[in-house]
Amino acid sequence: MKRLVLLISGRGSNMEAIVKACRAEGWPAQVVAVISNRPDAGGLQFAAQHGIATAVVDHKAFASREDFDAELARVIDGFAPDLVVLAGFMRILTPGFTARYARRMLNIHPSLLPAFTGLHTHERALEMGCKVAGVTVHFVTAELDHGAIVMQAVVPVLAGDDAPSLAARVLAAEHRIYPQSVRWCVEDALVWDGERVCHRDGAPQQLLLN
Ligand code: GAR
Repeated sequence: MKRLVLLISGRGSNMEAIVKACRAEGWPAQVVAVISNRPDAGGLQFAAQHGIATAVVDHKAFASREDFDAELARVIDGFAPDLVVLAGFMRILTPGFTARYARRMLNIHPSLLPAFTGLHTHERALEMGCKVAGVTVHFVTAELDHGAIVMQAVVPVLAGDDAPSLAARVLAAEHRIYPQSVRWCVEDALVWDGERVCHRDGAPQQLLLN
C-alpha cells in the first residue's frame, strides 16, 4: 500500500475528492495524514471525521521559510509517505524542501500552465479575454508552478463569466483530474521522459470539457 500525505491550507475540496476516490475505487494506497499550515483550515474536520490523522504546522510560528519547511518536512516524514500531495497548499516552498520530495510531490494549479502562475488566475484569464481556462496537475520543482505536467483539463470561458463562476467550472474539473493523477502515481503508471511524464499505456493526459 502506498502512503499518501495531503497538504492543505483551506477548504480542502480536492483533498476530499482524493480521499473519496481512493476509498471508493480501492486504490493500492491510503491517505495516512492531512497536514495544514492553517489551524482553521476547513478540510481538517473532514479528514478527522474520516479517521485520517491530522497535523498543523502553523507558518506564523516560524521566523523564516527555511525554519517552517524544516518542521513541515519533519512532520511529513513522520508519516513515511510515498507521495506528498499539495491540495490547495498556499505556501511558497524552499528549494531544499522541493528537492527532498523531487518526483514524489504533486501540486494542482488552477490555470493552464505555463500561463498564469501565482495567484488570481481566474481574474487574470478573464482580464486577458481568454476563451478557455483550466487546471494543471504537475510534479513540484523549485520553480513556482513549474514541473512535469501529469494532467490538464480545459474548460470554456463563457460570456458573462466572472471569477467565481469560472473558478467553480474549473474546480469541478480539478475534482476529476487530481484523483486520476494521484491514482496513476500510486499505480506506478507514469513514465519519465527527461523532464516530462507520460502515461505508460498512452492514456489521455488531458480532459476537454464543454
Ligand atoms: C484549488 O482551486 C486549487 O487549484 C488552488 O486552490 C484551490 C484549493 O481548493 N491551488 C492553488 O491556487 C495553488 N497555487 P480546495 O482547498 O477546495 O482544494
